[in-house]
Amino acid sequence: MRYLYVLAGITLLLLPSFALAGDNTPTPPPATMVTTNKLGPERIGNLPPVPVPPSNPQTSQKILLGKQLYFDTRLSKDNTISCASCHSPSMGWSDAGPTSSGINKQLGGRRSPPVSNSAYNPLQFWDGRAPSLEEQAKGPIQNPIEMGNTHLVMLRTVQDIPGYADEFKHAFGESNLTIDQVADAIAAFERTVVTTDSPFDRYVKGDISALTSQEKKGLEIFNGKGHCTTCHWGGNLSDGRFHNLGAPQTGPLKEDNGRYDVTKDPQDQGKFKTPTIRDVALRAPYLHSGSDKTLEDVVEFYNKGGGKGVSSLDPMMVPLGLSKSEVKALVAFMTRAMTSLNPEVANVKPIPPSDLPK
Ligand code: HEC
Ligand code: HEC
Repeated sequence: MRYLYVLAGITLLLLPSFALAGDNTPTPPPATMVTTNKLGPERIGNLPPVPVPPSNPQTSQKILLGKQLYFDTRLSKDNTISCASCHSPSMGWSDAGPTSSGINKQLGGRRSPPVSNSAYNPLQFWDGRAPSLEEQAKGPIQNPIEMGNTHLVMLRTVQDIPGYADEFKHAFGESNLTIDQVADAIAAFERTVVTTDSPFDRYVKGDISALTSQEKKGLEIFNGKGHCTTCHWGGNLSDGRFHNLGAPQTGPLKEDNGRYDVTKDPQDQGKFKTPTIRDVALRAPYLHSGSDKTLEDVVEFYNKGGGKGVSSLDPMMVPLGLSKSEVKALVAFMTRAMTSLNPEVANVKPIPPSDLPK
């Protein structure tokens, strides 16, 4: 394992430009921002423009409609649960956890990941089983322990609300309401839930006073001694890949195979998708089953080398030797420095759904 230590220590101090892979409008960064440990394109910085699939172009009508649907409890079987119940703007687009509860207070087995910046995930869900936001959005509506409905009944309910019928016509120009339209509209809204303005983002753009000295130290550890950017890299601070950290399993599921359930590849046993670090302080508790209450707990977990007694532990999970003050610095970096300041995303309010009441 020695090479990990050696390579992760290399920080290139003076590169001519800083940009995410594929971004051709480089912004000169503070010199310490560029990092590589040669295990991949480990760079962190501002988010690139949100990727939009050609099959579902962004339009203002679709986004507005998607926002209404996102906050509308009438999509659930008993009119009690909306997407926002488990992905609330006031809880970092997640919920209070540790795992989510749906209709009839049924408890699910996994923690609600944030909807904010989910547009940047190459695959959706902790195990990556949905290839797009569109496909993802169809799941919860008919998941028996989430919204508990059927697509057919949900479509009938929505169609019977005159305001919605008009808005669907506006957005899609057809009179036949389909599950694909519902999913397209919700996904279009989700692609607007992007947090682009954290102190870290300002720092990357050249405002060196945007971070405190402790947060700068935390950033340095994140990039260096902590090896965090090996997996948490790119504008969204996630490689979009799957790793087994040996995170303890808590909650109603006794065992969670993670990515293995999708691929059936024994090497994927216990692997989960790397979450973004953006706005992470707003959405405790942490990890796929909400097993860690605080960011400090998460850092201490890494500091000890991840989970114990796990056969297929990721090779990056080795004790880090971080001191108490280094742990604090890392937590400080992930707390204020990574929390978005853009109010239109942080404080988005549900707009009245069409034609209240139900
Ligand atoms: C009962 C709680 C609940 C409801 C309701 C719910 N979700 Fe989720 N959502 C979750 C949980 C839990 C996961 C993770 C499940 C997994 O990985 O297996 C998730 C995953 C996601 C993801 C994937 C994010 C990522 O990083 O992989 C997106 C996007 C999402 N939900 C959007 C929605 C939308 C849109 C709706 C409404 C149509 C919705 N959710 C309704 C709890 C909920
Ligand atoms: C080998 C890849 C890898 C490395 C290295 C890594 N992470 Fe992670 N990180 C992940 C994965 C995968 C998860 C989710 C694991 C799970 O839930 O089982 C995660 C989860 C987290 C979470 C919880 C986020 C949430 O929304 O629940 C935080 C915080 C975090 N990592 C911070 C760090 C820090 C700080 C470091 C460096 C000390 C680091 N990570 C190093 C892959 C990695």
